[in-house]
Amino acid sequence: MYARLLFVVVGISGPVSTGFAPRSAPVPDASALARRGAADIRLLMNEAIRPGPENPQQTTGLPVLSVVVPTFNERDNVAKLYRKLEATLTGIAWEVVFVDDNSPDQTWEVVRDLARQDSRVRCIRRIGRRGLSGACIEGILASSAPYAAVMDADLQHDETQLPKMLSLLESGQAELVVGSRYVEGGSADSFDKQRAGFSAFATEIARRVLGVAIADPMSGFFMIRRDKFEQLAPQLSTQGFKILLDIVSTAHGELKTVEVPFTFGSRLHGESKLDSMVALDFLGLVLAKFTNDVISLRFLLFAMVGGTGLFIHLGTLFVALTVLNWPFPEAQAAGAFVAMTSNFILNNFLTYRDQRLKGFAILGGLLAFYLVCSVGLFANVGVAFSVYDQEPIWWLAGAAGALMGVVWNYAMSGLFVWRKR
Ligand code: GDD
Ligand code: MN
Repeated sequence: MYARLLFVVVGISGPVSTGFAPRSAPVPDASALARRGAADIRLLMNEAIRPGPENPQQTTGLPVLSVVVPTFNERDNVAKLYRKLEATLTGIAWEVVFVDDNSPDQTWEVVRDLARQDSRVRCIRRIGRRGLSGACIEGILASSAPYAAVMDADLQHDETQLPKMLSLLESGQAELVVGSRYVEGGSADSFDKQRAGFSAFATEIARRVLGVAIADPMSGFFMIRRDKFEQLAPQLSTQGFKILLDIVSTAHGELKTVEVPFTFGSRLHGESKLDSMVALDFLGLVLAKFTNDVISLRFLLFAMVGGTGLFIHLGTLFVALTVLNWPFPEAQAAGAFVAMTSNFILNNFLTYRDQRLKGFAILGGLLAFYLVCSVGLFANVGVAFSVYDQEPIWWLAGAAGALMGVVWNYAMSGLFVWRKR
C-alpha cells in the first residue's frame, strides 16, 4: 500500500518518465499537495491509484514482464545491464528486480541509485542469505507481472532475445522459454574446456536420471509464465544454483517449453561466483528430485561427514592408546572430542557452506555442536540398547543406534548450530 503511494508520488513530482507511470491521470502539483491536510492527501492518493475504468492508464501501465536479476558483487555491471534492457524492451511494459545478497561491493547501493531515477527498477537487498536459486525465487515472487525472466547481471546472457521470448509466452506457444546454448544457433564459446566438459556431463546426467528433455537445463537464462511458476514455487529448492533444472524436473514434463538459441558471452566485470562446489549442488539436486525430495543433499552430506568422523575417532583412539599410552577411557574421550571437532569444521565448510559461521560465531557454534552431539550419543546408545533387547543382532542394533544419532544430530544442528537467521 505505502509502496504504491510512494510510486504515485514519484509519478507526480519525479523529473523522469517511467514508461508506465499513470502519466495522464489528472493530479495536482506537489505544492498543492503540500498545502492539503494528511487525510485529504490520502483520499487523493486512493483516488489516484484506484484501478478500474476511471483510471485506465493505471491498468494498462502495469508491467507485463519482470526481469529478475540475482546479483552478488556486480556493482560495475548493473547500470550497463539496465541501459541495455531499456534499449531492447521499448514498447514493452517491463520492470527489473535486482535481488542482491548484501554484496560486499555494495551492488545494492548502485541499484538503489538507479531505482531512485526510474520506478521500473526495484531492489531487494537480502541480509544473512546467500544463494542464486533462492534469490531468483524471491525476485519472481516479489513481482506480479504475468511473465518473469531470469538472467545474469554480467551481460553473459543476450537480452535482445527477451522480446522474442515474451512473444512466445504471450502467444501461448510456450509456458517456459529457455535461452539455450546447446540448440542450433546457440553457443558457449567463452567456456574453458573444464567448464564445458562439466556442463555437458551434468546435462547428460539430468537427461538420463531425471528424464529432463531440454537441451540446456543448466541455463541461467529463461522466461516463464507467472501462474505456472507460482504453482511450482513451493516445491523448488532455495539452495544451489540450478533453478531451471529444478523447475523443469519438478514440473514433470507438464510445462510447454521452447528453447531459443543464444550465444553465452563473456563476463563484463567481476568474476564468476560458481566454484567447484557447484558440482556438489548439482548432485544434491539430482538426488533430491530423484528421491522425490525424501533425501536432501544437506542430510546426505551431514551423514557423510559423520562417516568420516568415525574414522577420525578410531584414528585418534589408536594414536592415544598406542603412541601416547593413555588409558582407554581418556583415549576414547579424546577420540570423540577430535571427531566432533572435525565434523563441525567439515559441516561448516561443506554441509552448511551457504550459512557458514564466521568469526566469534564459530566458537558458539562449536560449543552448541558438542552439546547436540553428546545428547545424540545418548539417543544413539538408548535406541541401540532397546533394539538389541528385542532382537539380539549386533549390527542391526548398532545401525539403528547410529541412524538415530545422525538424525538427531542433524535435526538439532539445524535448529541450534546453523539455524537460519
Ligand atoms: N543474489 C545472489 N546470491 N546472486 C548470486 C549469487 C548469490 O549467492 N551467486 C551468484 N549470483 C548472481 C551473479 O551475480 C550473477 O548475476 C548470476 O547470479 C550468475 O552468477 P555467475 O557467477 O555469473 O555464474 P556463471 O556465469 O559462472 O554461470 C552462469 O552459467 C551457468 C551455466 O553454465 C549462470 O547463468 C548459471 O545460472 C548457469 O547455470
Ligand atoms: Mn555469469
